[in-house]
Amino acid sequence: MHLKTFLAALLLVAVAITNLYAQARTAVPTSQRVDAATTRKVNTLLAKMTLEEKIGQLVLYTSDYDVTGPVVRAGYLKDIRAGNCGAVFNALTANFTRQLQKIAVEETRLKIPLIFGYDVIHGYKTTFPIPLAEAASFDTVAIELAARVAAREASAAGLHWTFAPMVDIARDPRWGRIAEGSGEDVFLGSTLARVRTRGFQGMEGWDLLATDSTVVACAKHYAAYGAAEAGRDYNTTDMSEQRLRDVYLPPFQAAVNAGAGTFMTAFNSVNGVPATGNRFLVTDVLRDEWGFGGFVVTDYTSINEMMKHGVAADSAGVGALAINAGVDMDMQGGIFQGSLASLVRRGVVKEKTITEAARRVLTMKYKLGLFDNPYGRNDSLREKARTLTPENLAAALDMARKSIVLLKNDRDVLPLSKSLGTVALIGPLADNQRELLGPWSGAGDAKEVVTVRAGLTRKLPSTKLLYAKGCEIDTKDSSGFAEAVRTARQADAVIAIVGEEQGMSGEAASRSQITLPGVQTELLMELAKTGKPIVVVLMNGRPLDLSAVLPAATAIVEGWFLGNRTGDALADVLFGDFNPSGKLPVSFPRNVGQVPIYLSALNTGRPVNVNEKFTSKYLDVENTPLYAFGYGLSYTTFAYSNLRLEQNVLGQRDMLRASITLTNTGKREGTEVVQLYTRDEVGSMSRPLQELKGFKRMTLAAGASVQVSFEVPVQSLGFHNAQMKYVVEPGTFLVMVGGSSDKVQTLPFTVR
Ligand code: NOJ
Repeated sequence: MHLKTFLAALLLVAVAITNLYAQARTAVPTSQRVDAATTRKVNTLLAKMTLEEKIGQLVLYTSDYDVTGPVVRAGYLKDIRAGNCGAVFNALTANFTRQLQKIAVEETRLKIPLIFGYDVIHGYKTTFPIPLAEAASFDTVAIELAARVAAREASAAGLHWTFAPMVDIARDPRWGRIAEGSGEDVFLGSTLARVRTRGFQGMEGWDLLATDSTVVACAKHYAAYGAAEAGRDYNTTDMSEQRLRDVYLPPFQAAVNAGAGTFMTAFNSVNGVPATGNRFLVTDVLRDEWGFGGFVVTDYTSINEMMKHGVAADSAGVGALAINAGVDMDMQGGIFQGSLASLVRRGVVKEKTITEAARRVLTMKYKLGLFDNPYGRNDSLREKARTLTPENLAAALDMARKSIVLLKNDRDVLPLSKSLGTVALIGPLADNQRELLGPWSGAGDAKEVVTVRAGLTRKLPSTKLLYAKGCEIDTKDSSGFAEAVRTARQADAVIAIVGEEQGMSGEAASRSQITLPGVQTELLMELAKTGKPIVVVLMNGRPLDLSAVLPAATAIVEGWFLGNRTGDALADVLFGDFNPSGKLPVSFPRNVGQVPIYLSALNTGRPVNVNEKFTSKYLDVENTPLYAFGYGLSYTTFAYSNLRLEQNVLGQRDMLRASITLTNTGKREGTEVVQLYTRDEVGSMSRPLQELKGFKRMTLAAGASVQVSFEVPVQSLGFHNAQMKYVVEPGTFLVMVGGSSDKVQTLPFTVR
């Protein structure tokens, strides 16, 4: 063979190998693949579009429906008509969205339909518990159903797109947005990212998006928004790439794998680069590594805000940063509309970049079936028929009951007997509808909420239910204490409903103190002096510091914000018609000074030892949380025995198979969330003390025993090493199984 031919052949082989390698690196998940027919249609349309029309597809404007009703700012209407706006959010109802769609479809040159988006976070009209509360159920089936119900209602109101799930890992309870996600844990967060995405979209992938009962999901806020320094919203996040990849990114990748059609960039900067202009996050990781095929929208004006972050001086500068990072759609900022065309003319942005962004948006419009049937979701009769139905409300009740966590139950005071003669209902949240929907309840209507008072009245037809407010949620006024105490004295038991206003969590709602606001703790202390059993029911969007509440309370029920069926769910739990089964998806600190405190922390070189001075501890508080991750009581008791491993030496491709005997040792049926944790004892990087790797909800009759089995892929036990490679390093591990992270049985095993 000639040397030249040989070299040419060598070159071909090298190219082939490089291509194979590149493909393997970007293994596009099936759920993210675009079919050839759609690609052809999009290409045909793109070929007809001017640069300005392509840019129009990248523009998202608000309608303000919540505030103004069915009108859109005049300027935006003009933009829709001119083809300068491709999507609208905060426009509700089948009728109003139809009117807007009509403009896009009948009055624009290319008749490209609009996408309608909205924050459907925990239900649309039927409000479910806040996402953090839902996470406490560890019930993936119920949570998927909650998302599906939300999608059915929202899609009947003309919507195609929800800005959910929020999959930010959050380990700082000061941060108000902890309410919107699944808490602190990577495994739970990733699992729920998957089921919520599937719930909204109907399946893993985009094939059901064209049906009239699904909405396209949006995984947000990409990325690391939950790590805001000091828990202050929008604040800087800064961390090692290992931590980013091992903790904050996995739920996002889970959303990609489940077929999430869109992503939203976060407000914060990540290691110095604002997420909205972060090419590493949006292009290198999201698209190139994970194979994401959908489109990326910014958060509200987050392109503009990059000027304040100080990474560019003007609109053109931030616009170029965002589009070149890989962002496709500008939410409300007007920057893409105002500056992309001239950036292309100046050669700062390639036209191809714009074309690709428009391609991704148009692909989703085809997938949503909008070109075939732009009014497919605009049927006001269907909207009525599907909204707040008995089935939807039943799903909300089921979810609410399963979200409740029993934190304390001294002397088994709960469940209360239905034959109590007199019950005192006290507290600012006892007879309140307004606060119960929780943050980001979007289209939810407080008038549809069952208050605790109403729920208890229904539950207890023959009990005298007394009521006194006691105080407001967040004032210094204690003038109502006397009446509350008088009321309590007349009762056989006191139920005190206390907590936060719904606006104290959610966006821009960080708190530096996480105790009960106002004088509510003092109210509880006064009530406790009566000597009556005090059942404290909490409503809150974050872990609270309950140290001062504890001594005043005989029992504590964590009720979060439970949505429409709040009163019914709590009445069922308090009076024993539902045995609580929720477990904390986030650690509750003893005080705010311990924050951040979370389960999967690394060890130090000087683990705490109270007898030695120079160990890692506080002088004034223990290291442990008040309530650990995975903790939650039941009205029955469970015993764990006989933890076993099928094999204790495992290869890299093996499954860790563990089983344990669970026995209901109490007197009534109950559901237990059995949790499996692991620890990698020695690694090239320090490894967390405990990591959740599996959980199962088991319902057992009184006295019954069952063997609970787990299969955990050895490949899921890895981490990113110093070379940023995901590895499962050989060595010894521990497996821990139990009903709370701090109460487990342990066995060792080895990975070869
Ligand atoms: C800002 C919030 O950060 C985001 O979560 C939400 O989806 C958008 N606004 C749209 O309302």
